[in-house]
Amino acid sequence: MNEFNSNSAIGVFDSGVGGLTVVREILRRLPNENVVYFGDTARVPYGSKSKNTVVKYSRQIARFLLTKNVKAIVIACNTASALALDELSRELPIPVIGVVKAGAQMAVNITETKNVGIIGTEATIKSGIYSEYIRSLSKEITVVSKACPLFCPLVEEGLLEDRITDDMVERYLSELKAYDVDSLVLGCTHYPLLWNPIKRYMGPAVKLINPAYETAKELKQMLKEADLLRTDNAPATYEFYASDGADKFITFADSVLPMHVKNAEVVDIESY
Ligand code: DGL
Repeated sequence: MNEFNSNSAIGVFDSGVGGLTVVREILRRLPNENVVYFGDTARVPYGSKSKNTVVKYSRQIARFLLTKNVKAIVIACNTASALALDELSRELPIPVIGVVKAGAQMAVNITETKNVGIIGTEATIKSGIYSEYIRSLSKEITVVSKACPLFCPLVEEGLLEDRITDDMVERYLSELKAYDVDSLVLGCTHYPLLWNPIKRYMGPAVKLINPAYETAKELKQMLKEADLLRTDNAPATYEFYASDGADKFITFADSVLPMHVKNAEVVDIESY
């Protein structure tokens, strides 16, 4: 039984460390909120897996987060948002939000030429969910999508500034550059960590969109409407869990978040 109140934590999860880019924005916009983060580092990447598998993994993680009495869940993973948001929203007793709608909305607001690029994992791009949302918001926009399956492992390996990364950026993004997009949605929570190489290659005229900003904004609004904003004035707490490789996770989290991450506990997620 999940016993939550407005002072309970927000549960956030991703297939690995990418979702920390969403935590970073949550900390900026909601500094008073407690956060429990789970990174499925043992089973990353999700982007090449089937819907059934991603839904199963997401359900297990949600069950784990409910043991922490979280008051809401943020799916800080585009792949899991694309494939499992409907299931989790239907099944869980607390509000669940994903990152895809926020990213789509931002693209619609920002584009001037009406040519929008979307990059993401194979599963996210194959789901067509970004194009679908964008078209439901504006019929005039042309969406060009590209799956970039090697970006996630490059990030997980910490190769944020590397010749191999620059080569992969060129290989994946040359098509989008040729289409003359004026905005590019980083449709995988790992990709904002490749902001510099992507920006360098796409050039100053192309605006990069990080759906995490809008997600944190949407989260704040949702908590406010549900009367779930934390009222306790004690300093916020942050707990980190991973399914494998706690040390590597901590090093990574330390480089992404504006604070020192002291500890990450390994969880046997298959048992949930
Ligand atoms: N960070 C995830 C996303 O936003 C997935 C990366 C992966 O596990 O393939 O899609």
